[in-house]
Amino acid sequence: MKILVITGSAHKKGTTAMLTEKFILGAKEAGHEVCRFDAAFKNVHPCIACEKCHNTDTGCAFKDDMEKLNPDLLTADVIVFVSPIYYYGMNAQIRTVIDRFYANDSSLHGNKKAVLMLTMADNTMESAEGAIASFKGMAKYLDWDILGMVIGVDCGDISALEKTCYPEQAYELGKNI
Ligand SMILES: Cc1cc2nc3c(=O)[nH]c(=O)nc-3n(C[C@H](O)[C@H](O)[C@H](O)COP(=O)(O)O)c2cc1C
Repeated sequence: MKILVITGSAHKKGTTAMLTEKFILGAKEAGHEVCRFDAAFKNVHPCIACEKCHNTDTGCAFKDDMEKLNPDLLTADVIVFVSPIYYYGMNAQIRTVIDRFYANDSSLHGNKKAVLMLTMADNTMESAEGAIASFKGMAKYLDWDILGMVIGVDCGDISALEKTCYPEQAYELGKNI
């Protein structure tokens, strides 16, 4: 299967980067093709709801790095969303990419599976509830099956994450896709 991993964090060696690497390791060992889009290091303009993508045949008004992502987005069998929690939601970098799905909305419906991986500093699930609800709502709307989630509570930094089972969970999730 073709797996597209979209990350949000600007920390190249942060907690979500570790979960991403573990997931990709497992997925590659299982023989899957994996591509990765690190939104924090790309040029992706926020959607401005101009409707040009829906009302003309010239696509999105912004000719930016979404043009590189879109072919993988449209052909991936599995899309993996990886974000730190910022103020009870996914961070702005990954949200900006998700909003830009709007330009391909009709093509994205059905025939895909989705995974969510989050980290946060709080030691309860409360901070993650909004992001999980948003992910589930998107998957339901786009008719995607949810394959699994890794929700890393009490993971404010890499040393905290290393004491948990979440990296192993991410590896196993990738391995068992
Ligand atoms: C702007 C900002 C907002 C944050 N908001 C929350 C929050 O609402 N709840 C929480 O538990 N952690 C919050 N955190 C902590 C991060 O989720 C946590 O440090 C995470 O491990 C960072 O992931 P990264 O290393 O992959 O960037 C916040 C961190 C930042 C920088």
